[in-house]
Amino acid sequence: MAGDLSWVPPGVDTHRANVARVYDYWLGGSHNFLADQDVGRAIAAVEPNMRAIARANRAFLGRAVQFLAAAGIRQFLDIGSGIPTQGNVHEIAQRADPAARVVYVDIDPVAIAHSKAILAGNENATVIEGDLRDPETILTHDISRRLIDFSQPTGLLLMVVLHFIADAEDPWRILATLRDALAPGSYLVLGHATYEGKPEIAHATETVYNRGVSTQLHLRPRAEILRFFDGFELVDPGLVYVPLWRPASPADVPGDSHSFQCLVGVARR
Ligand SMILES: C[S@@+](CC[C@H](N)C(=O)[O-])C[C@H]1O[C@@H](n2cnc3c(N)ncnc32)[C@H](O)[C@@H]1O
Repeated sequence: MAGDLSWVPPGVDTHRANVARVYDYWLGGSHNFLADQDVGRAIAAVEPNMRAIARANRAFLGRAVQFLAAAGIRQFLDIGSGIPTQGNVHEIAQRADPAARVVYVDIDPVAIAHSKAILAGNENATVIEGDLRDPETILTHDISRRLIDFSQPTGLLLMVVLHFIADAEDPWRILATLRDALAPGSYLVLGHATYEGKPEIAHATETVYNRGVSTQLHLRPRAEILRFFDGFELVDPGLVYVPLWRPASPADVPGDSHSFQCLVGVARR
């Protein structure tokens, strides 16, 4: 997209790095600016595995959505959905069933604008601007209510977003509010960064990230991430480092899975 900035929504400060665009940079997307690339590169210098981690996270999301589709889930609420890239949730869900419905939610105007562009004409998938810290507003939004029947099982996707919510904002309460809106048979797909795999590099990554991006990153230990699954039952293999969750092939599992710094799980309500 070099040179062509016509897609940039008004009011976006292209000189300040932000969460969605730094992630887009790691994933090899084109909706990021020099400020995002600088932070992305500074972190990759501390954690050379960063791009591989981001790609592994996206691949997990794809496997998890396929798993949910095979379990009969036909409606998905994806909060912190990000800037669309390859293997988007609606593409996977609607490949399984063209009538599958997807509501994407993000706080970032670039993610919203690009999602709207690629979803134009798709009656069953849409995006709303929303803040995970205010789950009630997301759940009662007209569009959520139109596309999602909360009396039926739903796939709730919270992929690498809860670590942007500070303890003081009680992410566990946020999750409980969302969980309580879900019908039995619903699923939670969650990924969260941890420092436990390799603490020194993880804490250095966190420091560099928080210096460059105003939305702060909060790495958590496994026990605190496990608490997000209260009221759900984890499916096999439980809460694991991202390459270990039902890999497509044993060849996809590196010897050092703990170095992927992201714990993921899928659980049934
Ligand atoms: C690391 S990206 C992950 C994107 C996507 N879930 C994925 O796995 O590819 C995190 C996303 O969460 C969004 N986000 C951060 N804080 C948020 C909040 N309070 N409410 C909604 N979205 C938020 C960011 O804008 C960003 O798009």
